[in-house]
Amino acid sequence: MKTGDSKQTTPFKNLETPPLAYRALVVNKEKFIQVLDEINNQAELSLFKNRIIALKGIMSFPKSDREGLLNIDPNGDTVSLRRDVLISELNQILEARTLERAKYYLERLEKGVQKVKTSKINDINLLRWKEYDEIITDSLWVLDRRDTSGVHLAWYWGNFIPQIPHQMMLRYTKKGEWVLDTFVGSGTTLIECRRLGRNGIGIELNPDVAERAKKLINKENNKFNVITEIFVEDSRTVNTKEILNKLGIRQFQLLIMHPPYHNIIKFSKDPKDLSMAKNVDEFLKMFGEAVDNITPLLANGRYFALVIGDKYSKGEWVPLGFYCMNEVLKRGYLLKSIIVKNFEETRGKRNQKDLWRYRALVGGFYIFKHEYIMLFKKR
Ligand SMILES: C[S@@+](CC[C@H](N)C(=O)[O-])C[C@H]1O[C@@H](n2cnc3c(N)ncnc32)[C@H](O)[C@@H]1O
Repeated sequence: MKTGDSKQTTPFKNLETPPLAYRALVVNKEKFIQVLDEINNQAELSLFKNRIIALKGIMSFPKSDREGLLNIDPNGDTVSLRRDVLISELNQILEARTLERAKYYLERLEKGVQKVKTSKINDINLLRWKEYDEIITDSLWVLDRRDTSGVHLAWYWGNFIPQIPHQMMLRYTKKGEWVLDTFVGSGTTLIECRRLGRNGIGIELNPDVAERAKKLINKENNKFNVITEIFVEDSRTVNTKEILNKLGIRQFQLLIMHPPYHNIIKFSKDPKDLSMAKNVDEFLKMFGEAVDNITPLLANGRYFALVIGDKYSKGEWVPLGFYCMNEVLKRGYLLKSIIVKNFEETRGKRNQKDLWRYRALVGGFYIFKHEYIMLFKKR
């Protein structure tokens, strides 16, 4: 949830096409494999390395290509490789001290060119995992910019940054799978669904917010022809079977929940709104009801990302995040990670910042600068 206005601009790269997102080399696959095989047949390390140096020369200066490695026949089989990663792999081969080791690296490179190996839950080619360096794998996320590319706008007070659903979808879904966001707000998740080729369903209590979100989502180019739809419903009571019947699917492959952080922001006056809960206990009860109602929709073995922050009330830090985590764990989910994410920078609020710093010094507390992405797996 953001803490103030921001107008950052740097687009977040599409990680699903890493070779295109960086300087890519499109090589003639058959020829490339043939050259790698020839090198692998060398019986001496020095000869082996000489051929690697020659290959590196071609990849660094494509104009020097006399072998036809980069001469692409339009009907031929090609493969796109990230140049920096390829060069670093060739360097690794050159650094090998034994022929055995050099061959090991070469064969690994060859495998990455020939084959695709993915897990059951995403499209990341594990044989070329080095090309996905923008996929975050650390539990501390310090993101200084909001992705404002595409139709993303930061109009909704209490939205999350697009990088959250973006990262979750790349790690935990394959193209064409189904994502459910039960507190969809301004539709950030569904916009990312369109950009990454996932079908996305949102549930939102507030009809005005849902209407605005729908309009915005429809402005995003639907180049993968996916379904994005919002149901104006209460996540705790929505008839989940009807949703599945309407969509003609059996289950979802990723669940995202970004509920209100209790009453930090009051989203409406509707008593069904979680931000209207009278106290923390009631909020947790309502949150638990939503988890109970929605859990059957998630396929076994798939992921549930809960985005939540803590709150401060009457001189006391209220660990809403951990309370909500416990509600989920009570329902039998497996905890996979707790990610701590910074709030984006607020601008033009210098006076307020000073005031909060003064209050913190007087009151003996720390100012919130983080929220959580808690990751669960359905057993
Ligand atoms: C923190 S916001 C989600 C923001 C969203 N991630 C975005 O990027 O815009 C929480 C949303 O939950 C909605 N909400 C609150 N209670 C709800 C309920 N019982 N069922 C469905 N939506 C609810 C609120 O109207 C609000 O839009």
